[in-house]
Amino acid sequence: MELFIRDANPDDAAGIVSVFNPIIEARSLTLFDAPFTVEAERSYIEGLAPRDVFHVAVRATDNVVVGFQSMAPFATYTHAFDHVGVIGTYVDLRSRRQGIAKRLFPATFEAARRKGYEKIFTYIRADNAVALSTYQKHGFRIVGKAERHAKLQGLCVDVVIVERLL
Ligand SMILES: CC(C)(COP(=O)(O)OP(=O)(O)OC[C@H]1O[C@@H](n2cnc3c(N)ncnc32)[C@H](O)[C@@H]1OP(=O)(O)O)[C@@H](O)C(=O)NCCC(=O)NCCS
Repeated sequence: MELFIRDANPDDAAGIVSVFNPIIEARSLTLFDAPFTVEAERSYIEGLAPRDVFHVAVRATDNVVVGFQSMAPFATYTHAFDHVGVIGTYVDLRSRRQGIAKRLFPATFEAARRKGYEKIFTYIRADNAVALSTYQKHGFRIVGKAERHAKLQGLCVDVVIVERLL
């Protein structure tokens, strides 16, 4: 699939939500538990700070958003974590395994280095083997597993923590 990877802008909100909401509604892939409105997504994008990274993967043939990857500072209550970002990756459920994440990761690594990050960190549901395999393929290592760390629809889910030095 021919793709463009570029920074998200507020007009991408509807496209991002149409990738994100079916993933959230599948209830087995992400720690997000409620769908987003287009308006909420638009204001999130409008409010992005200079150190945030938000890339969309756009299909070249019809300009449809087929994936996105975002990264934000791990914490802002101290400068101790200024070099650490938290990443999330979401690919349209109908367009998986076509190399979209493979295109997003290097673009985000490059932007992250430019913005002064030295390390990327994230949380993945322990039952999401595909996401774990994807992140490992892109150089992340498993730090450990936090047991019964998320509670979704009353069910406890273990969460795997992964990290990658840039
Ligand atoms: C995880 C996810 C982002 C992968 O995106 P993708 O565009 O399908 O991934 P790619 O096509 O670039 O595949 C990259 C590598 O990931 C692994 N991978 C991807 N899909 C896989 C699958 N179905 N089974 C096993 N490994 C898989 C493989 O190592 C693959 O490389 P290969 O095909 O050359 O062997 C996508 O499946 C997704 O959005 N899932 C739902 C949301 C989610 O789980 N996000 C992660 C939590 S932040």
